[in-house]
Amino acid sequence: MPLHHAPQRDERPLSVNPFLGPANPIGDMTQAPPKHRMPDGPMAPTTAYQLVHDELMLDGNARLNLATFVTTWMEPEAGLLMAECRDKNMIDKDEYPRTAELERRCVSMLADLWHAPDPSAVVGCSTTGSSEACMLAGMALKHRWSGRNADRYPSKDARPNLVMGVNVQVCWEKFCTFWEVEARQVPMEGDRFHLDPRAAAEMCDENTIGVVGVMGSTFDGSYEPVADLCAALDELQERTGLDVPVHVDGASGAMVAPFLDEDLVWDFRLPRVASINTSGHKYGLVYPGVGWALWRDADALPEELVFRVNYLGGDMPTFALNFSRPGAQVVAQYYSFLRLGRDGYRAVQQASRDVAGGLAGRIAELGDFRLLTRGDELPVFAFTTAPGVTAFDVFDVSRRMRENGWLVPAYTFPANREDLSVLRVVCRNGFSEDLADLFVEDLTRLLPELRQQPQPLVRDKNAATGFHH
Ligand SMILES: Cc1ncc(COP(=O)(O)O)c(C=O)c1O
Repeated sequence: MPLHHAPQRDERPLSVNPFLGPANPIGDMTQAPPKHRMPDGPMAPTTAYQLVHDELMLDGNARLNLATFVTTWMEPEAGLLMAECRDKNMIDKDEYPRTAELERRCVSMLADLWHAPDPSAVVGCSTTGSSEACMLAGMALKHRWSGRNADRYPSKDARPNLVMGVNVQVCWEKFCTFWEVEARQVPMEGDRFHLDPRAAAEMCDENTIGVVGVMGSTFDGSYEPVADLCAALDELQERTGLDVPVHVDGASGAMVAPFLDEDLVWDFRLPRVASINTSGHKYGLVYPGVGWALWRDADALPEELVFRVNYLGGDMPTFALNFSRPGAQVVAQYYSFLRLGRDGYRAVQQASRDVAGGLAGRIAELGDFRLLTRGDELPVFAFTTAPGVTAFDVFDVSRRMRENGWLVPAYTFPANREDLSVLRVVCRNGFSEDLADLFVEDLTRLLPELRQQPQPLVRDKNAATGFHH
């Protein structure tokens, strides 16, 4: 979310279609409303609607946004339920006990899906998205660590740190900055674009509050090896006595792997995994913004972080950064779980993975590109230009594809692969085989022009796609 500065005062008012102004004596608008100052008086709702609606037409088409992981299509029935619940505040558990109950059921379903050994011991909550969930999980890790180190923290010798791959989503850097935790990042190396378990274990010391494993990486859609990470930390414990918990950031993968990679062990089956988050609004298949954070048991979530709200005359524990939050997304999450069930989720995620695999293959066949991932973990793949392609780069491709309405981010990798720039395609429900065909057709049509460029044309790489993790 950009932090908006008040723009330079633009004295020009909004331009008003005569249908809304002089040609509409009933609407009675005699003066065009200002842009950056609240108008002095009211206007008819139809007029206000039309003005806002028209301005929004220049937004990109969400369904063609291959940059976002976030759900861009839900069934009309889900939209209906969300509209019915748009006035419900999630925090008002006492006033909306059934919404609170649906939240509780979602937590139970996720605990079961993620193989909690004792689902009744699991503590969990809905959040605004994975970012909030990660903040909460990080806070729990920090409090557990500070509780264990009460004799030496705070002191200048005990600065808490969190170990992660350099590929983590920006929310982890935010967590470390906001909560004064040192971020220890394992760099990329060669063709390894995510965390290396051994290198992560080596970075741990007595001030490590935890290690983050990502299922899967925002940069290229690959799953991090969470089981190997836990094994490396088991080995560290045997050697040094350090007992470092793991948080799994399953923003996308925690709603893909349980359906498509059932034998992959990454979740509460691993005793070292203390907590897991996911974005309900990504492969959880709900419109933005809902996320989930679950802790294995009450020990993993220090009691002093829990606040109590009134609930049916009693009190209900809550853990959140916000107080007020929309209830509609939680209801929509429950709808999706109920509507699809495990088989339905499997079918939806498999379709996305099939589209990703097929599209990745066809892009590789064009000859101008090299795949870094194939969309066989998250239905997401990253690719770069093939060796020997010098006339254009990924930033040119991103810019030119936008002319056809496709939003495909191009960005440079972090340490130690700053030399590598990629395009990333996120295949979500609603991005069909047919749309993928159109994508390849547009890319194929573009290539002869790109090949004739004297050199890559995009100078300001950061501005090229406006992409931020
Ligand atoms: C791995 C990972 N973690 C956290 C986030 C942040 O999630 P949200 O957008 O739900 O706040 C993302 C978003 O893409 C992500 O990919």
